[in-house]
Amino acid sequence: MFAVYAESFSKDDPLAGLAVGDRPAPELPDSTWTTVTVRAASLNHHDLWSLQGVGLKDEALPMILGCDAAGLDEDGNEVVVHAVISDPAWSGDETFDPRRSLLSERYQGTFAEKVAVPRTNVVPKPASMSFEEAACLPTAWLTAYRMLFTRGGLKAGDTVLVQGAGGGVATALIVLARAAGLRVLATSRDEGKRARALEIGAHDVYESGERLPVKVDAVMETVGRATWSHSVRSLRPGGRIVISGTTSGPKLDDAELTRIFFLQLSVIGSTMGTRDELASLVSMLDATGTTPLIDQVLPMEKARDGFAAMAGGDVFGKIVFTR
Ligand SMILES: NC(=O)c1ccc[n+]([C@@H]2O[C@H](COP(=O)([O-])OP(=O)(O)OC[C@H]3O[C@@H](n4cnc5c(N)ncnc54)[C@H](OP(=O)(O)O)[C@@H]3O)[C@@H](O)[C@H]2O)c1
Repeated sequence: MFAVYAESFSKDDPLAGLAVGDRPAPELPDSTWTTVTVRAASLNHHDLWSLQGVGLKDEALPMILGCDAAGLDEDGNEVVVHAVISDPAWSGDETFDPRRSLLSERYQGTFAEKVAVPRTNVVPKPASMSFEEAACLPTAWLTAYRMLFTRGGLKAGDTVLVQGAGGGVATALIVLARAAGLRVLATSRDEGKRARALEIGAHDVYESGERLPVKVDAVMETVGRATWSHSVRSLRPGGRIVISGTTSGPKLDDAELTRIFFLQLSVIGSTMGTRDELASLVSMLDATGTTPLIDQVLPMEKARDGFAAMAGGDVFGKIVFTR
């Protein structure tokens, strides 16, 4: 079947190992698994990390990339695929399962005609949502949902700062926070992205590192090293940082430890989300009429162009591949 996959790794030139071609159809490990025919899939920074060998070993190659998909189940129902695959023996919040993996890590990913997943890993897609929109949800949007509401515990009226406004997770954070009645501040290095952030729901926007006129209840971090100090300095006493990524690097020049204890700040890690949170996210979007922000839609055959756009950092919202 047609697939977009990693055949080698390169730290400096991740696109060198990207292949577009033919791969065997996915095998079902047992009868608790099913096959979804992919109609749309979306690109995440995770796919670029995979091409750099982050989270993947040589023996896993070739590996079909992609965590996110929406498509048709074996009965023709429209579904969204949940990307977190937990151990069959695990019960409870699957993001805490030490043996969990994401599609494209242990099991073949979604950038293909078909993807195999456990039957419990599909969520009905509402008719109000296109396949392209639904394909944005399983990683970036689910991560944003859990950061804000589960791990961050934020509620209507709170003030939140979103760092690095242009990213897939960051745009989801802005749109979801606004839809939930929060006051939303956002930073970006780029003037055009700051203007777009205002259009999609930010109340106020700032240059990366700019001192804010108010202290916030929480900061949503995916950038890491480049914005960490500013995140700590932007919090009110007792505030919290929720972090799910380190795009600019994980090693800090200054962890701001003194501020963290003196102002009694909390640093909260967050990773992906559960199947139930994905279902709640889908319901929230359906009920509020909110739609995921798409930067561009490309046929899957042109996946390389999407990867290049993400590697270049010139993206606002999600890149979606269609079949
Ligand atoms: N833990 C999880 O479950 C989980 C899930 C999803 C994603 N993630 C992680 O979260 C991060 C974001 O993912 P994504 O898919 O949203 O990536 P993305 O679309 O590539 O977003 C990257 C954004 O980060 C900002 N940025 C990058 N370098 C920066 C720098 N030096 N200074 C300031 N801002 C910088 C940019 O914002 P501006 O250009 O607007 O400044 C850019 O738009 C990745 O590291 C990813 O691995 C983790």
